Amino acid sequence: MAMAKMTTRKLIDKKQKGTKIVTITSYDYAFAKLVDESKIDLVLVGDSLSMVMLGHRNTLAVTMEEMIHHTKAVARGIANALIVGDMPFLSYKVDLKDAVYNAGRFIQAGAEAVKIEGGTEIFPIVKAMVDADIQVMGHIGLTPQAIYKFGGNLTQGKNAPAAEKLIVDAKNLEKAGVFAIVLECIPWQIAKIISKSVSVPTIGIGAGPYCDGQILVIHDMLGIDTAFKPKFLKYFGNVGAEIRKALAAYKDDVEKGVYPAAEHAYEFPKEELDVVTKWLEDADLDVEAEKLRIKKS
Ligand code: KIV
Repeated sequence: MAMAKMTTRKLIDKKQKGTKIVTITSYDYAFAKLVDESKIDLVLVGDSLSMVMLGHRNTLAVTMEEMIHHTKAVARGIANALIVGDMPFLSYKVDLKDAVYNAGRFIQAGAEAVKIEGGTEIFPIVKAMVDADIQVMGHIGLTPQAIYKFGGNLTQGKNAPAAEKLIVDAKNLEKAGVFAIVLECIPWQIAKIISKSVSVPTIGIGAGPYCDGQILVIHDMLGIDTAFKPKFLKYFGNVGAEIRKALAAYKDDVEKGVYPAAEHAYEFPKEELDVVTKWLEDADLDVEAEKLRIKKS
């Protein structure tokens, strides 16, 4: 039976019913289809694609055009999950009008909502987007676009004033109109307090078991590149090893002449082959090639 389309309203209902929300990133059509078939609630076209798809060191390098390109591909693969586009660095904090316009471009590309990083300081940005009928997901804690301000990928909210600020930030995002808030790399006790303090779902990544939902970068949880292994990450597969194994077997088969075998080849009718063989006996292939070039020009 086809699953009904996920909406922001349904996500909020899930929180009220105490049902966990399952979310993940995707960056292309093929993975998006697999994710959608797995009945995941929400797909984030994360700016983490800067690293996992484009090979940059951090999220700061990815551009609006690249994010839009990947959002379009993901949207083609999704029938049911809610699609959220992650707004890249410099696309929403420089100018309010540009922020709303850029958010709108994600919607035109097929996203149904956008995600932006920041706390109380982005209250007017969230408000302006919501006023323009664009649904917004917040993101506080370790916000990777502020990596240089933080001095690295460090856990946030580790003392009382920092934790209190995170709690108030979440409250302000709720007041500005977000439909959900990502809590990244914060102590679980603070994530628990935030989750109880706001009416919209909290989606954790490195924020412990008391959030209303969870998100992971799909390449990380599948074990595609195992060089990145933060404390919060759990591998749910060993896809990188499987891919390496398949590529080694392919290389081996081709080199040994085992693949392609007869069963992978297309058959040519015997009588037609006789015609070609006979023609080949008399034909000068250089002349035939030139005749065809002249005909085509
Ligand atoms: O870009 C991303 O993948 C994210 C998630 C980790 C929340 O922002």
